Amino acid sequence: MKKLLGLLCLSFIALHSFGQSNRDGNIAIIPEPVSLTQKEGEFTLPKRVIIETATGPEMKQIIATLRERFSVPTGSKVVVLSNAQAATIKLILNKKADDALGKEGYNLAVTPKGIFIKANGPAGLFYGAQTLVQLFPKEIVSNKYVANVSWMAPCVEITDYPRFKWRGLMFDVARHFFTKAEVEQYIDNMVKYKMNLLHLHLTDDEGWRIEIKSLPRLTTVGAYNVKKVGYFGNFSPPGPDEPRDYGGFYTQKDIKEIVQYAKDRFVDILPEIDVPGHSLAAVVAYPELSCTPGADKYQVRSGEHFMNFSKDGIKAGIDNTLCPANEKVYDFLDKVLTEVAQLFPFGYIHMGGDECAKNFWEQSDAIKALMQKENLKTQEEVQSYFEKRIEKIVESKGKKFMGWDEILEGGLAPDAIVMSWRGMKGGIQAAKMGHEVVMSPTTFAYLDYMNGDPAIEPRVYSTLRLNKAYQFDPAPDSVDSKLIIGGQANLWTEQVYNTRHLEYMTWPRAFAIAEAVWSPKSVRNFDDFASRVEKHFDRFDVAQTKYAPSVYDPIFTAKIGADTTKTEVELSTEVKGLDIHYTFDNSFPDQFYPKYTAPLLVPTDAYMLRVITYKGDKPVGRLITITVDELKKRAKSKRNYPNNDD
Ligand code: ACM
Repeated sequence: MKKLLGLLCLSFIALHSFGQSNRDGNIAIIPEPVSLTQKEGEFTLPKRVIIETATGPEMKQIIATLRERFSVPTGSKVVVLSNAQAATIKLILNKKADDALGKEGYNLAVTPKGIFIKANGPAGLFYGAQTLVQLFPKEIVSNKYVANVSWMAPCVEITDYPRFKWRGLMFDVARHFFTKAEVEQYIDNMVKYKMNLLHLHLTDDEGWRIEIKSLPRLTTVGAYNVKKVGYFGNFSPPGPDEPRDYGGFYTQKDIKEIVQYAKDRFVDILPEIDVPGHSLAAVVAYPELSCTPGADKYQVRSGEHFMNFSKDGIKAGIDNTLCPANEKVYDFLDKVLTEVAQLFPFGYIHMGGDECAKNFWEQSDAIKALMQKENLKTQEEVQSYFEKRIEKIVESKGKKFMGWDEILEGGLAPDAIVMSWRGMKGGIQAAKMGHEVVMSPTTFAYLDYMNGDPAIEPRVYSTLRLNKAYQFDPAPDSVDSKLIIGGQANLWTEQVYNTRHLEYMTWPRAFAIAEAVWSPKSVRNFDDFASRVEKHFDRFDVAQTKYAPSVYDPIFTAKIGADTTKTEVELSTEVKGLDIHYTFDNSFPDQFYPKYTAPLLVPTDAYMLRVITYKGDKPVGRLITITVDELKKRAKSKRNYPNNDD
């Protein structure tokens, strides 16, 4: 008996000595489930997999996911039956709802004899299936047969449900156009991490991307600009003869197909029509929507510089706004929203409202007359007047009105939902006023920011590292959390020209956001998350999905040294267990070069610092070269890139 107790104790310690809580280090679920208990033994996938399930349209994609994953890489045959004596995988819809699980939760039991997923509804089964796939070896995500893999999963009992109902990703398809197939591919990846809301930013200065049948010029004219590559925002102004053939748009048929594709995977699509700022494409298509004479000469922006952001406000070089003093604008938006509301079944429409330059409104006689008539004292009140009218139009189409947090300025529309992007404060303010809020702050959730240091990353004006994204908490304790309906990460695509880079910017930071919006705070831990991320990198390698490996690269902090004549460089890493090797001699460091242990004094005549990180004998970071001039500049200006610092 004593021996048995000893053994039990040992196995208990063994299960608890790795990774998070009660499981071994091979289990790496993202987002971390509410509760997971590892049991004795394994399940081995048979050559003939029987899935027992109810069928029906909502089950279609769940079955398709399981069928694909358990047959393509494994070579097993998958059979789906509605009633089976010896099912391998049983999908069970609870006859009596389990309140703890809600609409999206599930119980997953993997036993040596079979797998059971139980949920109150199909969405829960879908998420249970995603977790199940993550329990199998990484090759399970392969799109071709993989030989010599033991297709085993550890026995577990999992109970899981989301913290928030709104688990979003915003995809800017306006700055660069991405095809229907590319949007669908984005959905395929987000649902693996239990994200359920895709916010499509459909209109901006660079393009109008949705067919509006009653306003054809929005897409015949507004969907195209001149193709340029380099640093968007600094492009040379396009010449009159340069072809305006870069871009594209979704036909209404495309939109319906994307919406259905998303629905099959339990994803809602939030359309955004960004007004009154960011509206150059619409103004070019219909210049009469502008307050400013001469708008008929404007062209859809191709990335040339035209906005100035400063502490004194935003000033545009040309008027990229719709005119709040022009009744035609409201007729226009009524037409747009009639069609948008019919195309997207989701209950909310996002009407933008961000970064509206008001310098042309200040000059406009029509705006001055409106201010007098409506007793508006400031340009913010002019925008608020506009937003309140738009809210009525949106609501007349049976939808809820949503906007970026600028819609708080000058007075919030009565039933508006606020998406807080300039930090959390706008969201907190709106929640205090009793409005629903979605948190998507630059501080934690802007995927267009650099993953790391500009010495290696494509340069953007700010940095958001994985560890910072992981600190995202959409509902901090200080706020009435009932009104915070969720959180999302935003991917603006000014600097994103193709899907490979889209993936690079999204992952792994979207893992962090997925966990922030799904997992309870009590199970979240960065070091544990980072070890799970590594395993998902391996999966992405198998699936040939790109990700940013930046979390392996060092963080440079350059300072003026204590004696004030030398520059000092501190190196650190976001994740534990890495060695940094470096040299100032211009050659290529490897694991035989000096290992960083303490701040480095830059030698007097050094030209560059080169570094690379290793995990054991394996290089994991990228070779990074940074010039001494750059280090000196950073030391002097005190501007390093530890994290988001805009
Ligand atoms: C925004 O990032 N301009 C909402």
